[in-house]
This record gives sequence, C-alpha cells and structure tokens, in this order.
Amino acid sequence: MTRELAVPFLAARHVEAAVSPEAAVDAVRDAFVAYARGEWTMPPKVYVPAYPAGDFRAMPALGAGHALLKWVTSFPGNPARGLPTVTGLVLLSDASDGSLRAVLDAGAVTALRTGAAAVLAAETLGRSRSAPAAVIGAGVNGRATARTFVARGREVRIWDIDGARASAVAGELGAAVASSRDEALAAPTVATVTPGHDILFPSGSLRPGQHVSLMGADGPGKAEIAPEELARVTVFCDDWEQASHNGELAHAVDAGLLERSRVAQLGDVLAGAAPGRTADDQITAFDSTGLAIQDLAIAVAAYERYRAEPDAAFFERVTEIAVG
Ligand SMILES: NC(=O)c1ccc[n+]([C@@H]2O[C@H](COP(=O)([O-])OP(=O)(O)OC[C@H]3O[C@@H](n4cnc5c(N)ncnc54)[C@H](O)[C@@H]3O)[C@@H](O)[C@H]2O)c1
Repeated sequence: MTRELAVPFLAARHVEAAVSPEAAVDAVRDAFVAYARGEWTMPPKVYVPAYPAGDFRAMPALGAGHALLKWVTSFPGNPARGLPTVTGLVLLSDASDGSLRAVLDAGAVTALRTGAAAVLAAETLGRSRSAPAAVIGAGVNGRATARTFVARGREVRIWDIDGARASAVAGELGAAVASSRDEALAAPTVATVTPGHDILFPSGSLRPGQHVSLMGADGPGKAEIAPEELARVTVFCDDWEQASHNGELAHAVDAGLLERSRVAQLGDVLAGAAPGRTADDQITAFDSTGLAIQDLAIAVAAYERYRAEPDAAFFERVTEIAVG
C-alpha cells in the first residue's frame, strides 16, 4: 500500500503573493550562479510548434533538492481573444525520492522570473542601478518587469502600442507613461517585452552607455533588435544554446554577424567567470529566452513559503490534490 500525498496547487494569486519581486530577483540570481557553477542542471527546452497559433514548451530543471517541469505556451494572438499569451502548469518534485510536491500556475511563475531576469541583467550590466528604466510592452510579463524595477527603487516609464494598457499598468505600479516611443527607447536602461513583431532597435539606434534587456524574442520568427545592431554592441545572454537557436542571437548568428566567443552568459558574469560591463560608454544588451532554472528558483521559493506559512491569509483557498 502506498500513501496518498496531498499536493498543493498554488494558483497565480498565491504565487504572486508568496514571492515578492525582490525575493524573486534574489532567487533568480542564486539560480543563475548555481547553474553557471554546474550545481544545477537543465536539459534543453523542447518546443512543440502549433504555428501559426503559437507553440508549447516543455522545460525541465534540477537543483536545490528539487526537479521541475514547466509545460507552458506562447500564443501571441491570444490577448485579442481575451486569453493570456503564456499559460500552463509547473510541476515541482522532490529530487530525493521523486515525489510530487507542488503544482503551480505557470503564468505567475514565468512573470515573476522574467521580471527578475530583466532587472537582474540591468543591475548587473547597466551603468547605474538607479538610472531611470523604460519598459516597452505592458502585457503580463512587461507588467512584471516594471513591477520589479519599481520594487528595486527605479523610476519607471512604460510604453505600449496600446496606450490604455500602458496607463493602467503605470497607474497600478506608481510608474509613469513615456511621452513617446522614442523617449522610452532612449532611457539609460530599457527592457523590451513585446511579442517581437516589430524591430524596436534598428541599426545604429542604441546610445553610448545604454543597457537593454531584450525579453520578448524567445522563439522563432521574433525579433526586437536588428541583427546588425546586436552585433555592434556588447552582448550577453541567459544561455548560449537556447538563445542562439531561439532568441535574438539566432538572427545575428545565422547571418554570420555574431559568434560564441563574443557572447557571455549572465550566470558566468554573476559567478565571476566572465567580465560584465567594462566601460561607462559601452552599450550592453541581454538576450533572454527564459530558463527552467529561473522557474525552479521561483517554484521552490513559493513552495517553501507555503510549507512555512500554510495558514497565511494569502494562501487562503489553496487546493490540495490527492496523488498516489
Ligand atoms: N524571455 C523570457 O523569459 C520571456 C518570458 C515570458 C514571455 N516572453 C515573451 O515576451 C513577449 C511578451 O509576453 P507577454 O506574456 O507579456 O505578452 P502580452 O501579450 O501579455 O503583452 C504584450 C504587450 O506588448 C504590446 N506590444 C505589442 N507590440 C508592441 C510594440 N511594437 N511596441 C510596444 N508594445 C507592443 C502589446 O500591446 C501587449 O501589451 C512574448 O513574445 C513572450 O513569448 C519572454
């Protein structure tokens, strides 16, 4: 006879309340460093294309005594139908005996870790940790990025082709709406979190000293920066394998404009194994495709908070699933 396990399902509101943006930045930093040191492992992300509607991604990782699988979508046309672009589930298991420990909403985990990575890269590679930041794209993950910048004490300006969305997010977070797209793109620190249909940074557009976290182009056919512009600046990525196949890097690599030796991974910079910014007037660009180790960091943080404070008000109405 095996015992039934009561496995909590942490819905989006539980995850968002359990892990603050600041806790998310700390957890994601630790994950990047642990992965860079070889302490955490991450088999390649598997894309399951369902184009033109979108794609599914299966993302596994192992670390901190846990294993994770995220089953998640990117369906860019969904918001027009009132559905989220990113949706799915995260399974968190105990790596000592394989038992399932928690099921979490993938959209909330993704948003927290995406905002954390955008801000962590900006803080690590940007010229100043307090310079104003602009966030381009105020959807689910743009909102999370702006929320994280605000939590870290930055003045934030938001730009979205949907002005009402930019205003709503700015109002909610205590941020400002940029007066124009050009004003937003000229900020000392920029994070782009759009569906990647439009090139935001054409050739020659980035200014000396600027940092940009390029978050939106995380799959085939998407781009937020021209390949020539990426090749002109100092480039960092979350993971070379993933970014050079499915991120901004792919376009520049395919065009023969960028090679592995010119791109450092963020975790290597954080672990002290690669240089970051070396001059004030250097332009830095971070290409993010989103890593399962980031999801693992957030899932473990949320689950450990639940274990420590299951009766906290923000965990009200957590459903437990009987497994076994
Ligand atoms: N790198 C990562 O880790 C990561 C994680 C999650 C999502 N993503 C990607 O980020 C993108 C955004 O995801 P989301 O969930 O926030 O989507 P979303 O649909 O919720 O939001 C996208 C927003 O971008 C705006 N937008 C579209 N084109 C624009 C433009 N040219 N200029 C300014 N704003 C524009 C839209 O109006 C919308 O508000 C997607 O491509 C998604 O796949 C990347």
